[in-house]
Amino acid sequence: MSMHKPLPDANDFLPGPVLLLGAPGVGKGTQAKLLMEEFGIPQISTGDLLRENRKNRTSLGMIADELMSKGQLVPDDLVNDMVAERFKDPDTEHGYILDGYPRTIGQAQWLDTQLVAYMLPVVAVNIVVPQQVLLERITGRRISPAGRIYNIYTNRPKQDGICDVDGSTLEQRKDDTEEVFYERMKAFDAKTAAVIEYYRTHGGRFAEVNGDQPVETVTGEIRAALLKLRHHPDQA
Ligand code: AP5
Repeated sequence: MSMHKPLPDANDFLPGPVLLLGAPGVGKGTQAKLLMEEFGIPQISTGDLLRENRKNRTSLGMIADELMSKGQLVPDDLVNDMVAERFKDPDTEHGYILDGYPRTIGQAQWLDTQLVAYMLPVVAVNIVVPQQVLLERITGRRISPAGRIYNIYTNRPKQDGICDVDGSTLEQRKDDTEEVFYERMKAFDAKTAAVIEYYRTHGGRFAEVNGDQPVETVTGEIRAALLKLRHHPDQA
């Protein structure tokens, strides 16, 4: 018989700051959007923020464009400043889901300095998917201008090339080619793998989830990990 209290349901749950970690294509964006709706906290995707800067032709966007198209990381100070600006928005007051950030130890250490403002410590969830699955996910991904995520192999829209929700034309990201995918994986292995170890070994609120399952199964496992880590960090 379990010695622990039953887990609270998601309705009275305040997630606080949540990090979704993992290699390119593991499903961070897909899961962040679902969890954002469920928990009523915003998704902060540094990839999306950088693409917005690129679209608006800001000076940051111009610098990022070249690096992103080669699969390389944007310098820490630029990304941290961008995240700092986003943290000023009032919708982050009760927490947020960071997707694709932090990606270097420098970013993780900077984030630590920001988190002192929160009463709740950060919870980190690493999504794991075999590399051979990731290539198909990346090259098959299509996105709507509003950011809805599809896949021509695993999550097809009802009509080819058209968003189910708003009828817009789906696009392929410039960096979703096989060549750039391998460069992104190199950056992940060189810089971001260490960030996962950082959260695995510091603070105790870390979980690993198998992302090579149906989307809703992965969401269920992340939800369960969040509830458990908030209430029984030593048991996760
Ligand atoms: P970013 O936009 O963050 O890209 P990424 O980390 O490579 O992650 P992705 O967006 O490619 O994948 P995802 O895990 O979100 O997967 P998704 O849910 O879409 O970064 C892009 C670039 O920006 C970087 O290379 C770098 O240059 C720069 N950058 C960004 N952040 C930075 C930072 N912090 N520091 C420095 N530089 C930074 O899913 C992928 C596909 O799989 C979709 O088609 C989806 O439909 C499908 N799928 C998802 N889940 C499942 C499932 N369970 N089963 C089957 N299919 C699934």
